[in-house]
Amino acid sequence: MSNVQDIQSTYQVCEEWVQNIQQVLYSDVKIKECVSSLAKQISEDYKNKDLLIVGCLTGAVIFYSDLMRELSIPYKSDFISVSSYGSETTSNGNVKMNKDLNIDPKNMHVLIIEDIIDTGHTLKWVKQHIQNKSPASIKTCSLLNKQERRIVDVSIDYIGFECPDEFLVGYGLDFNDHYRGLPFIGILKTDCYM
Ligand code: IMP
Ligand code: MG
Repeated sequence: MSNVQDIQSTYQVCEEWVQNIQQVLYSDVKIKECVSSLAKQISEDYKNKDLLIVGCLTGAVIFYSDLMRELSIPYKSDFISVSSYGSETTSNGNVKMNKDLNIDPKNMHVLIIEDIIDTGHTLKWVKQHIQNKSPASIKTCSLLNKQERRIVDVSIDYIGFECPDEFLVGYGLDFNDHYRGLPFIGILKTDCYM
């Protein structure tokens, strides 16, 4: 499904946003299957462990809330918020903390939940920040991985989709804080940010 008419007949969504979508990359159905399979794997791997899932605001909220509702084991949940500076569509190594964890992760098994890993700067910073608080273990889970754009090396333990080097929006992902509520992930038309 790539054109505006198809999107509008399938989803009840904001017309102004949909006009700016070049192509739907991952439909709501495809995302749901992917989230279920990740949740199943995580539930197996963290059985009998004190799990703390940490969502990275704001992009990961929709993925995080869908994922947590499919976990079949007990866990604690918290959020962290950092901003990474750069241009409107890319980050650099200058990360600023907006909101730290409320829960002390000491001796807990932490799983960081992200929407997308691009250069890797943000995840690397968040991982190191939590590592300094002495968790029992620390792993990472990202719905999307844009491997081609990686600048810093950071391991991702659970990946939903390997995605192309395009600017993506929807299902939590934004451009200028718009588009997060789209139920699918789509490629934003380049004339919207070039
Ligand atoms: P990194 O530090 O370059 O890995 O950037 C990660 C953050 O940049 C993500 O958490 C997103 O908030 C944002 N980002 C990177 N690529 C995209 C994209 O294609 N669409 C929307 N946001 C993105
Ligand atoms: Mg983000």
